[in-house]
Amino acid sequence: MLNQVEELASKALDELAKVTNVNEIEAWRIRYLGRKSNLIHILRSLATVPINERREVGARANELKKSLETAFEEKKVDLESDSALLTGRETLDVTLPGQQIPLGRLHPTTQILEEICDIFSSMGFQVVEGPEVEWDYYNFEALNMPADHPARDMFATLWVDFETKTGDRPMLLRTHTSPVQIRVMEKTPPPIRIIAPGRVYRYEATDATHEWMFYQVEGLAVDRNITLADLKGTLFEFARRLFGEDRKCRFRCDYFPFVEPGVEVAIDCLVCHGAGCRLCDNSGWIEILGAGMVHPEVLRRLGIDPQIYSGFAFGMGVERIPILRYGIDDIRLFYGNDLRFLKQF
Ligand code: PHE
Repeated sequence: MLNQVEELASKALDELAKVTNVNEIEAWRIRYLGRKSNLIHILRSLATVPINERREVGARANELKKSLETAFEEKKVDLESDSALLTGRETLDVTLPGQQIPLGRLHPTTQILEEICDIFSSMGFQVVEGPEVEWDYYNFEALNMPADHPARDMFATLWVDFETKTGDRPMLLRTHTSPVQIRVMEKTPPPIRIIAPGRVYRYEATDATHEWMFYQVEGLAVDRNITLADLKGTLFEFARRLFGEDRKCRFRCDYFPFVEPGVEVAIDCLVCHGAGCRLCDNSGWIEILGAGMVHPEVLRRLGIDPQIYSGFAFGMGVERIPILRYGIDDIRLFYGNDLRFLKQF
């Protein structure tokens, strides 16, 4: 008896799979679930089944009935929706507007970072990253700024306060991406050509031009015979690719403890092209980055002989670029998560 039920089960499901239209499925229902079907017959005559088989056969037959009923309902819904469309009882209007799925987009900072990385990658620079929580050593000490160095005042620092864990090795949120230079030079013998994009932190009150977190991109090249001319060539090329072919660049002396000489690089104003306007504070020039030749002392400490090798380094703020390009008047907009702002890019 049990065999008979099992046979019925596989036959019924096989046949159901072959059903292709609404008429066939009704015939199938009559054949397998109708009043005169084998299954119903078995269920009705359970009383005549020997007592030792009755429970098992009964349970299995009832189970089969339920599963055939569900399979039937599902198949019927499928076929009906198909046939409604085919027979034109229901129509699919392909000209109706679809449901709009809003598309996300990349954050303006991410977009500009990708652009910067593309430009330098194409010049042979490799992209590397370093930690945002950094040792004092990498952020200051190894960059020629020992504990009592006044240049530390240039970087309002957020210190990590867990002396018990770090002992006498103070930790901080990196104030610039320059520590990545050190980490790379520590591990890699020259020639080196890298850029290091990432977040940096400063202990500052926020206003239209200051944020306590922003992005920088650091660049470093170390090899034999690297000169200031290489730095100029590289940054000229970069400025032209990012801001347009006819861009002018200006190099002026500046001071950073880890470079000698140090320079500040500006481009001619995007709005007035040098004539003087509000954007450039009437100077005609807009500063975009700090740079210089890696200080021989920095190289020596890392075991790179400054008699043989020299290098240049540069560092720039990333948000400044979209600020200039799109005339954004408040840096706080970048990380305020206001979609009305972000959707514009
Ligand atoms: N790290 C410097 C800053 O944050 C920029 C810089 C990088 C200057 C490399 C010179 C060389 O201001």
